[in-house]
Amino acid sequence: MTRDPRFDEQARAILRHNDRGGYTVPTPGLYPFQWNWDSAFVALGFATFDRDRAWQEIETLISAQWADGMIPHIVFHQDDAGYFPGPDVWATGTMPRSSGITQPPVLASVVRQLWEQDGADPAHAQMRALYAACLRSHRWFHTYRDPLGNGLVMVTHNWETGRDNSSEWDDALARVDTSGVGAYQRRDTGHVDAAMRPRQAEYDRYVAILQFGRACGWNHRQIADHGPFRMIDVGMSMELLRANRDLLVLAEAISDAPAAAELRARIALSETGMDWLWNDSVGAYCSRDATTGESSALVTNASFLAFYAGVGNADQRGRLLAALDRMTASARFLIPSLEAGSRDYDHRRYWRGPIWLVVSYMVAQGLAEQGHGDWAERIRSDSAALIAQAGFYESFSPETGEGSGGADFSWTAAMWLAWCGA
Ligand code: SER
Repeated sequence: MTRDPRFDEQARAILRHNDRGGYTVPTPGLYPFQWNWDSAFVALGFATFDRDRAWQEIETLISAQWADGMIPHIVFHQDDAGYFPGPDVWATGTMPRSSGITQPPVLASVVRQLWEQDGADPAHAQMRALYAACLRSHRWFHTYRDPLGNGLVMVTHNWETGRDNSSEWDDALARVDTSGVGAYQRRDTGHVDAAMRPRQAEYDRYVAILQFGRACGWNHRQIADHGPFRMIDVGMSMELLRANRDLLVLAEAISDAPAAAELRARIALSETGMDWLWNDSVGAYCSRDATTGESSALVTNASFLAFYAGVGNADQRGRLLAALDRMTASARFLIPSLEAGSRDYDHRRYWRGPIWLVVSYMVAQGLAEQGHGDWAERIRSDSAALIAQAGFYESFSPETGEGSGGADFSWTAAMWLAWCGA
């Protein structure tokens, strides 16, 4: 497909329109603040036409990094009554105001890309500052979120995964006590069709987990050890392994030998540890409950991040490719967030079927690197076709290609510019 300049123009206009001065909202209305992993992908989009603005997006996010090293999942740079839960509900007491949980650690991988695009100068000032911030954030994960000591990532809220409403979390969420939640008003369903959003019972559990963190004064040790939701997320485990590899490239470039040695050890630990997530009966890496040890036994788009993380033996990779092949039978477009036929699959509902292009991008990048260029190209061209057909939506039906969730979505525009529109 030849690049269509009209879509390039539209994509740039979306990023400009969603720019609030130094940071970008994912989409007006539904998500009116700065989100962590959204900003990382958005930087890749800005990088195609405004390099300074790309670096600035990440620097603004990092300005909210906590003293303990955590990079929060939302930064509330201004008030907006159209979102729940806002800064007063989180009550973290940080400045700038932010949520008390994190999001997928994709930042180091983006920083490496931007730096290489700029010529890979070891003296690059922005890279060096962001390298230090990413290292602190990765150490936070290692300190607070590796309860099994095997290099994987535990999440204490499903919102941390970015794949909020995936069926992977259902069993663990079902055990969350919602009796003390009290009354609150959701805002998301005022912006988009409720059929595309989590159900009310699910939302109550999300709020109950938030309230537990707040009651702990956002003490991350206490939350990790005693929280009501403790899942080892396949997506974040793969993303952190990849990010550690990318951070290692930066550590070597700036000759930070102690950090390089530390990162090599973390990488080796995660490479071996990842087998704890392998579910041989379904033939995929699946999220697993840290408390009960139970595997979700579900194939999601995050399962295929194994290629991006560079893990799996020949047999495991073969079985993952077989699962991808199986998906092409029920999906007109790749990659659905949940395999059709799985428990509670719904091609329109939040993370229970629809396609999110940022996950597709990481999977395609991994497939291309691991010698599966044909699959990478299939995913890229499907992604471009979805945008061309439906517009720059938050997500898309794998069955019909229809857009779902928010419109004029920043990271979808960024993915067009940096990847699939090419
Ligand atoms: N994605 C969440 C929401 O739907 C928050 O991170 O509001």
